[in-house]
Formats: sequence, structure tokens, C-alpha cells
Amino acid sequence: MLPAVHDTGAGEAVLFLHAFTMDASQWDHQVAALSDGMRCVRIDLWGCGMSPPPPDDEPSLDGFASAVLDALNARDIDRVAVVGISMGGYLAFALWRRAPERIRALALCNTRATADSDASRDDRLAMARQVERDHSVESIVEPMVARLLSPDAQAEAHIVDPVRGRIRRCTPAGIAFAQRAMANRPDCSALLASINVPALIIAGTEDAIIATQEVHAMADAIPGARYAELACGHLSNLELPRAVNDHLAAFLAPARMAS
Ligand code: MLT
Repeated sequence: MLPAVHDTGAGEAVLFLHAFTMDASQWDHQVAALSDGMRCVRIDLWGCGMSPPPPDDEPSLDGFASAVLDALNARDIDRVAVVGISMGGYLAFALWRRAPERIRALALCNTRATADSDASRDDRLAMARQVERDHSVESIVEPMVARLLSPDAQAEAHIVDPVRGRIRRCTPAGIAFAQRAMANRPDCSALLASINVPALIIAGTEDAIIATQEVHAMADAIPGARYAELACGHLSNLELPRAVNDHLAAFLAPARMAS
């Protein structure tokens, strides 16, 4: 089943991959700024945003990466710059594993290459069971807001209200799929040295999920990667949209993308 695709603008294609409990609308600020001159393609994970429910197969990001490639093929999109945040970064690594020739640049925000510890895998599986048992995602809304946003951003209605709205739009099946797929993901650390396209890595100094040191170490392992640290929490593109837009615009400028 193809996921929902939101296709805006014309030019070189840029694929935006959202974070856990978010959806394609997480990238609204970036698409508003960048779609004048770029083709911004956004995908909703199964069970999130406008996408259909997940399939019955064993949940994996590799499975979803195949569906993303099918969605690009259906639109005759060959090579893309990939911009992924957090889970979207894990998915970007799955795409790189499957089809590096389709990727002309990689921007990775607030993400990591390592797999889960046993404890965080257990937490993910517990959340998957909880939302399935409840037939509702309501119990995860406030805990996720507290993890995803810095304290300052949690006090800003224009940031926090849409974040709550996106979490509530995810179905229990979508949340359970994403958690099980992330729990199953492999360690991608060994892949980093193979990334031979331009790379931009962004970290948030108040990120409660992935510390800057971890993101910095990942950037160091990618040949020639640029690294930027912003004063924000885990959802850098929502907390500091202009700063992220500026970094992406400079990184994605056609002159820099010649390959
Ligand atoms: C995300 O923001 O995509 C997730 O919180 C990442 C994770 O749970 O590892």
C-alpha cells in the first residue's frame, strides 16, 4: 500500500521524512520557504497524517522504505535530497541501505545511527501494547509533548497545539507500527563512512531524546558532513523554523548539489 504523498513546488526533488507521532505537516514551515524553486515531497508514515493503516507484515523501517521508493517511482522521481528528522533520519538510513543511488544529499536532524538499548526497546513495545489496548493514543499525548519540545516551546501555543493535534491524528495502529519498526531497526553506525553525498547534520542543545554529543559523533563519522547546533529541543524544525530553513536553503542550493 502506498503511503500518502504531499507534493509541492517544482524543481529538484527534496524528500521530507517526519518524526515519530508527527506527520508530513511537521514540514509546513520548510515547504513554505523552499517550495519556490524545489519540489518538496512529503510522506506520511502509515497510520499517521493522511496515510492508510500499516500492512500486516512484521513492522520494519526497511518495509516502509520500500513503500517510499514505490511512491517516488509512481511519481517518476528518480534522485532526491532526503531531509529526515529523528525517526525520519532512521528511515533515511534505511533508504541509504536499500538505494543509495537514489539519494543525492542527506540532511539529518535530531537523529542517531545507533540501534536501541534493550531498555528503550522494552519501552517502545510497552507503548505499542498500551495504545492498542486503549484503542486510543490519548495517554501518550502529554508524555510525548514533554519529550519532543523544550520547556520554552511547550509554553508557546502556536508550537505545542499543532504538535498535540498531530499526535492525536496518529492511529493506535500507526503508533504501534512505528514503535515496533524503530525497535527492530539495525545499528547503522557502520554505514556512516559510506555516505558519499553532501550531508548536513543538525542537533538541538535542549533535545531530551538525542543528546548533541551523540549527534556530533554521528556527524564526525560522515565524510565531509557539516554540523550545526541550534538552541532548541528535539523538533528543531518546529521550534526554530527560520534557522532550520536557512541551513536547508544554503545546503540544498542547486550550486551545492551538483553531483
Ligand atoms: C522521534 O522523534 O522520531 C522519536 O522520538 C525517535 C525515537 O523514539 O527514537
